Amino acid sequence: MNGQTFVFADPDAVAEESARRLLGLMAEHPGRRFSLALSGGSTPQRFYRLLTTPPWRGQIDWGSLQVFLADERFLPPDHPDSNFRMVRETLLDPISKIPECNIHPMPTDGTVEASALRYAAELQEYFGVASPRFDLIVLGMGPDGHTASLFPGHAHPKGPWVIPVHNSPKPPPTRLSLSLELINQARHVLFLVTGEDKAPALSMLREATVPTLPAGAVQLDEGELVWLVDQAAWGKAFS
Ligand code: 6PG
Repeated sequence: MNGQTFVFADPDAVAEESARRLLGLMAEHPGRRFSLALSGGSTPQRFYRLLTTPPWRGQIDWGSLQVFLADERFLPPDHPDSNFRMVRETLLDPISKIPECNIHPMPTDGTVEASALRYAAELQEYFGVASPRFDLIVLGMGPDGHTASLFPGHAHPKGPWVIPVHNSPKPPPTRLSLSLELINQARHVLFLVTGEDKAPALSMLREATVPTLPAGAVQLDEGELVWLVDQAAWGKAFS
């Protein structure tokens, strides 16, 4: 398994450590804008909720955050299953200190192909360089080893920064995702993985010598890759 792995007692402890790490990374460059890409899913969601509570709420420099999405379900932004809606309801609205212009949802109108190009253009405008590097990308992992909306058995094209996804086995079938290539350019990636249904995929990742699952293909070019895992996901065999 690439990167460093830390195993915690439960999902709350994983969320606590995630908050501690976000604060630490932001503190390395006080006042500088900090690009953060967020995923959907229940494990990341717990982390977002925690950030809105003391002491984190008062310690994070919310004004310097630039919030992006790592992946999105291709649904209207007010749909109950929209990742942006989840991020808005769990983090952005309760904090209400992040300027609207610092919030970058993935567009989900028109075609998914056109939306991918529009989001790539937004990233290009924000980063202004040929090779964008997020300060931090927060990823979850599904029981099948998918991450963001990169699924096993799907082609993961090289080149585009944002890819349209069809036939996702996790509903809804149509999605948008940062590409593997873009994720691998990040300065920091945090994988948040909890629950015993993840144990078989984590076990495969531990044993694989070549990456066979999308989560295992996250291998940062230069950045720091950290897995925060709870005991249930890590599994008894590895404790
Ligand atoms: C999504 C995701 C997806 C998610 C994982 C983990 O939109 O569903 O971004 O990659 O992060 O499936 O989700 P859980 O933490 O709920 O298992």
